[in-house]
This record gives sequence, C-alpha cells and structure tokens, in this order.
Amino acid sequence: MDPTVDKHLAELYPAHLDTVRRRFDEALAACELDAVVIGAGVEIYFFCDDQTYPYKPNPHLLQWLPLTRHPESCLVYTPGERAKLIIYQPDDFWHAPPELPGAPWAEHFDIEVSETTDGMRDAIGKALGRTAFLGDPAQWARTPGNPPTKPPWKLPPESQVNPPALLNHLHYYRPYKTPYEIECIRLATQLSVPAHRAAEAAFRAGGSEYDIWHAFLGSCRQTPTQLPYPAIVARNRNGAVLHYQHYGHSADTPHSLLIDAACAVNGYASDITRSYSHSDPEFADLIERVNEAQQAMAAEVRPGQPFAELHDFAHQSIAHVLSDAGLVNGNPENYVERGITAAFFPHGLGHFLGIQVHEVGGSFADRTGTEIERPARYPNLRLVRTLETGQVLTIEPGLYFIDSLLTKLKDGPHGKDVNWNTVDHLHKFGGIRIEDNVVVTESGMENLTRAAFATG
Ligand code: GLY
Ligand code: MN
Ligand code: MN
Repeated sequence: MDPTVDKHLAELYPAHLDTVRRRFDEALAACELDAVVIGAGVEIYFFCDDQTYPYKPNPHLLQWLPLTRHPESCLVYTPGERAKLIIYQPDDFWHAPPELPGAPWAEHFDIEVSETTDGMRDAIGKALGRTAFLGDPAQWARTPGNPPTKPPWKLPPESQVNPPALLNHLHYYRPYKTPYEIECIRLATQLSVPAHRAAEAAFRAGGSEYDIWHAFLGSCRQTPTQLPYPAIVARNRNGAVLHYQHYGHSADTPHSLLIDAACAVNGYASDITRSYSHSDPEFADLIERVNEAQQAMAAEVRPGQPFAELHDFAHQSIAHVLSDAGLVNGNPENYVERGITAAFFPHGLGHFLGIQVHEVGGSFADRTGTEIERPARYPNLRLVRTLETGQVLTIEPGLYFIDSLLTKLKDGPHGKDVNWNTVDHLHKFGGIRIEDNVVVTESGMENLTRAAFATG
C-alpha cells in the first residue's frame, strides 16, 4: 500500500535513518565487509504456472524505507557514502510499474532506475569490494528471463550471500525501535482498532467468519496481503485452533468470537487479539478474568524484566483464573508445575513486534547470535531476552479448550482435579486470547493498544 506520511513521521525519519546507517556501519565493520546490497526480493511463481505467491518484501530493506511493493529493486550501501536505491521499473503494460519513493524518503538516497534485471546487475556490480548480499538468494542466483536468455549472474568476487555473522548482528539490534518505528506501530494500531470494533459489530449482528473478516478489511481498507499476517477470525469452537486459517460462511448460532487481526503501516506491524462472548454470562466472566490477568502481566513490563520470568508469572496468573472460575480444584500454586496450566495455555506470552510480526532477535544473548538458554519448563519460548527500553512486544495470554490437550489432561494423573462439567459447558466457546502491543519505556511500559481502544 502507499506509504503513510504525516508531519510527525517526516520529522522522526532522518534520525531513524541515522540509526539504521550506524547499525549497518557497525555490523559491516564487525564482519570486515565493505558494502551491503539489500535485495527487495522476488515474486515467486507457482509450480508450472504464470501466477505468483503474494510478494513479501525483505525486512532488511523495509527498515531503511517503506518500499513495500518493489520486487527486484535493491539498496546499495557503502559506509561513509549515501545509500543508493536501484528501483526496478520494467517497461510493462501488463502491470503497474513500481513507483519511485517520494518525500520524506527520496531526498536521503541516490536513486537510479533500471528497466531490466540485467541493468540492475550492472548498476550493482560497479566498484564493490567485500560485499554482503542480503535477501532472498533467488534475486541474485536465478537465471534471468523466462525462458532463460542469459547465463546466471555471477556475484562480484569476495561477495557473500546472507553471511550469518552479519544477519546475527543486525537481528540482535532490530528489537530496539527508534521513535519513528514506534510511531509507525502506533499508527498501525490506531488503524486496527476501528476495524476490531467493526468486526465485533458484525459478529454481534450474527455474521459469519467471512462477514466479520470483510467488516475488518472494510474498516481498515487494507487488502489481505497488506495485513502483516493472515487475520484469525474464529467463531465458536474454531477459537480453540490457535492459528485458525479459514473464513467460514456458516452463520450458525453465535457463541463466541476470537479475532486476532491487525494492520501494517510503512512496513511495521501491529498484532491485536480480542475475544467476545455473544450472550453467555459465564463465558463473558471468564473473558473478563483473563482480561484482568492480562493487564496485570502487561503492568510487569519494564526495563530489566527477564521475559521468561514474565511468562512464568503469566502461567501463575492463569492458574488463579482456572481456580477462581471453578475450572480446576485444589491449590492453584501448584497447577503450573503439574502441567495443568499448559493444557489450557499452550503458547508463549508474547514476542517482539516490528517489521516482522514475530520480530527477529527474541532469543539472542548478544550480537553474535548466542542463543539464550530457555527454561526447561518452557523450551519453545520465542522471546527470552531481558526487556530493555525501546523494545516493542506483545502480551497475549490465552485460555483455550483444545480437545487433544484436554484428553491428555483427563487421562493423566491430574485429570481428577478438573471440573469436567464446567469444561463441558465452556467447550463450545473455543477459547480466549487477549493481545496488546506494548513499548518498554524507561519508567515501565506504554500500552499502544489500550490507548487506541480508549480513544479510537
Ligand atoms: N498473530 C500471531 C500472533 O499473535 O503471534
Ligand atoms: Mn496475534
Ligand atoms: Mn502475537
């Protein structure tokens, strides 16, 4: 989609670009590289077909500027010099050619236009020393033309494609967001909130998943491929499928809605989930308990907070929700170690958020990419770093009635502690997830999502 530009963003952008440049300067120096070529990526064709998969730009390029629909273009950067953009603009009357960037981005780059991929390669190939090529290797490695007309392009000598040391360095620093990046995520959040309200209204009016999805898209006016991730629109039992991927037409009796959907602005994602009970007070009460617990978890976000400890706190909180709601008997203090909470809350509490909805770097101890050891009880956590000012992350606890996990719980040693009558009543609602996007600030955190719901 077109980049979003407002005065505030335009004011913030130059300092952002300085930060990006400095990070690349340091990363290239640490890896003894002279220059980097960042490819936008390519359109990938279906097997034996002339149609392509939805194009997804290289996040390393998006951090420089919002070139969101420019396959085959690239950026060439040598520390100490102005970055050069080579925009691929074929003479193509079948498709609208990619546009040149405008203000406030254009003035910061030398911009060349190339009508052919061979021309792109000539432009890149000039005067590069030890160069890293970042991005989908297909942009450099494949034979141009369809059918092929030329031998495959030879990368300049001494070049490296996606060197892991450079990627690790860049990925380690990606979670620290500049004020410009935080503003993009804030705007993405503000766009998403009215769309969530429209989706809720469609649900309450008896709409199908498809209808609810359309209400969301109609409000935010983004296409499905412009959204940062496929919207999850789950009515009734489908709420128990964590990444439910269909948009059903059934408008059978509405019980519940779990909607995990959000927008992107200038290549930056938001990631928001809300859960609703149509008319059942007991399920509405359970949603409110999870909502209160979620707010208590978000309140613990601050610099110096190890995220794995916050995840453990989330499990302790869900233990109390299960106990207070009468789903599980006995002392909630030991539900976590007995694996009871994991049967109802089987995913991580959150992840970094930014250019990628699951932003990179969540498990890195340092810029060389050393993996942080994960707690034995939570071996699959995406985010295990200690939180620091400027990072943006999600807080998204859940409580679900997932048949396969409930069967194991029932058949296991703790099955007798569960009130199966209560579970049976709540089963038809599928599940609950509540997800906000928060910025770690010097004094704690700022909840972008709650602020947008309060005003939007
Ligand atoms: N929307 C995917 C997630 O919440 O991680
Ligand atoms: Mn989500
Ligand atoms: Mn998420």
